[in-house]
Amino acid sequence: MATASRPRRKTVTSALPARPPEGTRPEPPGEPLLRAVDVVKHFNVGVGAVCRAVDGVSFEIRAGETVGLVGESGCGKSTLARVLTQLTPPTSGRVIFEGVELTGLRGESLRQQRKHLQMIFQDPFASLDPRMTVGDIIAEPLTNFKVMRGKAKDARVQELLRVVGLNPYFNNRYPHEFSGGQRQRIGIARALALNPKLIVCDEPVSALDVSIQAQIINLLEDLQAEFHLTYLFIAHDLSVVRHISQRVLVMYLGKIVEIAPSDDLYTNQYHPYTKALLSAVPVPDPRVESQRRLVELSGEIPSPLHPPSGCRFHTRCPIAQVPGVCSEDEPPLEEKAVGRFAACHFSARVRTGLD
Ligand SMILES: Nc1ncnc2c1ncn2[C@@H]1O[C@H](COP(=O)(O)OP(=O)(O)O)[C@@H](O)[C@H]1O
Ligand code: SF4
Ligand SMILES: [Mg+2]
Repeated sequence: MATASRPRRKTVTSALPARPPEGTRPEPPGEPLLRAVDVVKHFNVGVGAVCRAVDGVSFEIRAGETVGLVGESGCGKSTLARVLTQLTPPTSGRVIFEGVELTGLRGESLRQQRKHLQMIFQDPFASLDPRMTVGDIIAEPLTNFKVMRGKAKDARVQELLRVVGLNPYFNNRYPHEFSGGQRQRIGIARALALNPKLIVCDEPVSALDVSIQAQIINLLEDLQAEFHLTYLFIAHDLSVVRHISQRVLVMYLGKIVEIAPSDDLYTNQYHPYTKALLSAVPVPDPRVESQRRLVELSGEIPSPLHPPSGCRFHTRCPIAQVPGVCSEDEPPLEEKAVGRFAACHFSARVRTGLD
């Protein structure tokens, strides 16, 4: 569709003057726990070919928050997770944790900061070394950081097994003796070993049976309350993050395209991609469900080796103005209403409906 005229860039207040502000929960004062500033991660994948996996991403996570990160497979979620936790350095940009710029640290000072940032991985089968006992797997961070030895370490491993709902005497068993859900619990115990402040959960339930998924999510919520954890919770669809997150980041082809408080995002959207992702998620409220306009995503996600010009979503967007502003100008991620950020030239139109 190429019907809409080129919009004036609007300020937050002029964009939606008649509507009460959304997302009005006040931001707690002080420094966020983690800040990503224009993070870029490119991979050289052959002569002159560059995969733009993460291409200029900025956001904040506050202490105690659970922030959801959603987007289709291949949009750069895991790469961003690995950059945030310093498993891989960014190509450019900054990651600031508790006011300390991690991207400027090297050697032992970086290693010490990394203790506070742990990851839980998607595949509990692949992420545990099959040749190590469960006790050794969980104790590995304690050993690497020389935090504990001998009996104290054994006791800590048993405590961690208990905390994640496993029998503490399972420490001499091997990963293959456990079910998928139990293995994910082992991965969680390992992530907890060093008392981290932030855990990046990279699709922690995607590989599990639906019946087990809720158990793991409940466990993560209980652990958050008990140990004052902060989570970045990654998923490829919005149904999973809805339950657990206070705010949601929507990612498309290496960029954040929408940020919103979780409840608000499910009520209305400022980006057509978010609308399309939500179309796949049934809404439990029948009144909301009956009024919903479903948006189907057509086509495959484009290659991050050759992202589309202008707005990267224009090749799949049902209201793209092409040729025109959508294929020519990249929309910045702007605050469209209080707490609502989106990167779309026509976000006001998206908010009120796509017709
Ligand atoms: N080490 C790597 N080398 C080259 N390309 C990579 C590497 N890791 C990820 N990619 C590419 O980066 C893009 C984003 O991948 P990824 O971050 O795994 O996405 P997601 O987690 O959202 O599925 C993909 O195109 C993937 O092929
Ligand atoms: S800016 Fe992007 S998302 Fe917004 S209408 Fe244009 S193509 Fe669609
Ligand atoms: Mg991934």
